[in-house]
Amino acid sequence: MEKILEYLKDNHENSVEELMEYIRFPSISAQPNKHGKDIDDCANWIESHCKNMGLEVEKYPTSGNPIIIAKVPNDLVEDGQNAKKILLYGHYDVQPPEPFDLWTTPPFEPTIRNGNIYARGASDNKGQHFSHLKAIEAYLKTGSKFPCHITMVIEGEEEVGSESLYKFIEDQPELLSADFLYISDNGIPSLEHPTITYALRGVCALDVELNGPNKDLHSGFYGGAIANPATELCRLLSKIHNEDGVVQIPGFYECVTNLTDEERESFKQLPESDQKLLDLTGAPDLKGELDYSSYERRSCRPTVEINGMISGYNGDGSKTIIPAKASAKLTMRLVPNQDPKIILDLVENFLKSNCPPSVQITVEKGHAGAPYLTSPNGPFALAASSAVEKAFGKKALISREGGSIPIINEFKEKLGIETLLPGLGLPDDNMHSPNEKFTLECFERGKLMSAYLIDEIGALAK
Ligand code: BES
Ligand code: ZN
Repeated sequence: MEKILEYLKDNHENSVEELMEYIRFPSISAQPNKHGKDIDDCANWIESHCKNMGLEVEKYPTSGNPIIIAKVPNDLVEDGQNAKKILLYGHYDVQPPEPFDLWTTPPFEPTIRNGNIYARGASDNKGQHFSHLKAIEAYLKTGSKFPCHITMVIEGEEEVGSESLYKFIEDQPELLSADFLYISDNGIPSLEHPTITYALRGVCALDVELNGPNKDLHSGFYGGAIANPATELCRLLSKIHNEDGVVQIPGFYECVTNLTDEERESFKQLPESDQKLLDLTGAPDLKGELDYSSYERRSCRPTVEINGMISGYNGDGSKTIIPAKASAKLTMRLVPNQDPKIILDLVENFLKSNCPPSVQITVEKGHAGAPYLTSPNGPFALAASSAVEKAFGKKALISREGGSIPIINEFKEKLGIETLLPGLGLPDDNMHSPNEKFTLECFERGKLMSAYLIDEIGALAK
């Protein structure tokens, strides 16, 4: 282990340079027309990077973005017959960086300030999974044998629903078989509170459009006699929640599994507070279901969110019209045991049955990903816990988080593989926001964590 740790230390600066090179690709999966080539270039870069490290690498084309599978060669695994097999996961695609004007430095020109790398994709997810790769590299470059089999899957569609990876799991399950899956594509509350996440929310999406007159109308001529689709949309959407933010859609909470007393007790160890949330977000006040703490509301409870609304005239000055149409984009965050397909049906029915006859409604359903929950207590969890403790010098806490990586449920359903998420992101990383960053100390500790984890998994087999 010593020479591996030494290698990581000696090569830290070099690995920061490499990470910056990786982050420089604007691999924005939501904008394939504009960034198709950047996505391909990024996939090629990580493919050759893994090859140069000494991994067996295959790049699989898909109808979307390529999937990279990188494997530790069997002959480098000690006691290969009996050794455990772990799968690691990362995604090289990133969220759109807009609005550009809110970035202090351009989103794809990674810049180091105050011990952080600022760029889109730095934390979500290039920096986090690159930590795992650098730990593997340390084993390879020091000529150390691996105490377990390792396969790393790196996909390019996580931010748009992972359609190709769902298909890949179906078509080539043998390439992904493993005893356990570890993912760092999430967060910890602080460097002093390293955490292993054992549950994520699911997410499903739906667009709604209300059509009124067949063109924008003069509001003086027609206002008062013709329904305004923007007004009707506001009325309709406002029925979704009550004043405390409790969802009013019949059946929405029906399948929700309640938190156990043990879980709620363990959450008390997390350094969470209302004030911290206010400071992080800049929101003037908090809001949410009265019976739950703000941490529970944003990690363990289901929600309906309006992500965007479009209607009418939004240019300079005023324009006196009744808009012809109004639309909104909604997503629902789901918790165990809610089924995303059923929830989409419930929301669709609710919107349609509450829509007045003065406008016509169309609903289009989008992606649907299930929530995930596993036990934080099995042998693979203990291995992760011990690795985290060694890397961060603090005992690992456990948490549930509100973000989604829907594919992990598919790994469980189709391949029987459980997942735990030893996160490396911090709450102020600005994932999906302007000025995303990854803290260099998280990178450093992440590499250590991964190296220890490999070692701990090896010990499990004995
Ligand atoms: N890294 C996030 C998931 C995440 C964020 C987990 C924070 C835990 C805490 C991931 O890249 C992501 O953003 N996922 C999307 C999924 C969606 C597009 C299907 C999400 O959660 O919005
Ligand atoms: Zn993301």
